[in-house]
Amino acid sequence: MSEENVNNKDSNKNDDDQKEENIFLAPKNEDQKKEEKDENSSKKINYSNLLNYAPKAKVQILDNVSGSKYDINFKIIVIGNSGVGKSCLTLKATQDIFKEDFTSTIGFQFFSFHVKINDKIIKLQIWDTCGQEIYRSLITNFYRSTALAIICYSVTDRKSFEETEIWLRNVKANSDPNCKVFLIGNKIDLSDRVVSTEEGINLKKDHGFECFMETSAKDGINVRELFVNCALSLYKELPKYMKEKELMEKDMSSKQFNLSDDIKTEDSECSC
Ligand code: GTP
Repeated sequence: MSEENVNNKDSNKNDDDQKEENIFLAPKNEDQKKEEKDENSSKKINYSNLLNYAPKAKVQILDNVSGSKYDINFKIIVIGNSGVGKSCLTLKATQDIFKEDFTSTIGFQFFSFHVKINDKIIKLQIWDTCGQEIYRSLITNFYRSTALAIICYSVTDRKSFEETEIWLRNVKANSDPNCKVFLIGNKIDLSDRVVSTEEGINLKKDHGFECFMETSAKDGINVRELFVNCALSLYKELPKYMKEKELMEKDMSSKQFNLSDDIKTEDSECSC
């Protein structure tokens, strides 16, 4: 076997190892990156950067679908320091728009992203939040009933990377214990990177993040893949969520029954 083949085999092995650990980086090959950029990669899906939770599943992004058409709805919150690219990531994934100018989000804004996995339509209700320090206490109110939190940093901003631990503590303190957490290193298209890929991988391993991805909202690298991965990760828990939904609906209908029962009792006990 030639040396080139051996090296290729080794690098494939590394890719496989990383995939097993839910680590998804940008394509290493500059040409491949350029080719994807030229062909408007944000519309295409890089299937090699998808979680392997449902390997035989048919996965399809549903653009332009009505907001009310879904089998199950999951709330996802996007958090992280101001300026790391949270709004750009959600805008790029949902509307294929990239905004060069920086207008800080005030409060939060909603987006939806629909993914069909096998026969189930999963709606991700994405809450893009403001990262500015003065609003941080406000955000803690949004954590309730969040199925998955995406913590973002910019690979060009060390402080935003270091403060991901604060964001993680906030998620753990304020959300459901089953809330999944993804770690995202954005702006990998820029050349003034100060946070290495290795550091991101180590942080993922040290804190048990469900998944680590490096993205570029500008070039559309790993952007739609990120949200498809969220859907796949939640799809894995679908039987549990469906059961909870069923129980909740049963509970609601029995409450309605009891309510009319109560009214009847009051009527029948009326002494007038
Ligand atoms: P807050 O709303 O204040 O929390 O900020 P944010 O995290 O939502 O940041 P936003 O998406 O508004 O992006 C901030 C700036 O970074 C903007 O000028 C974007 O154009 C730029 N930006 C975002 N993502 C990328 C990226 O992947 N690459 C490059 N080069 N610039 C990006």
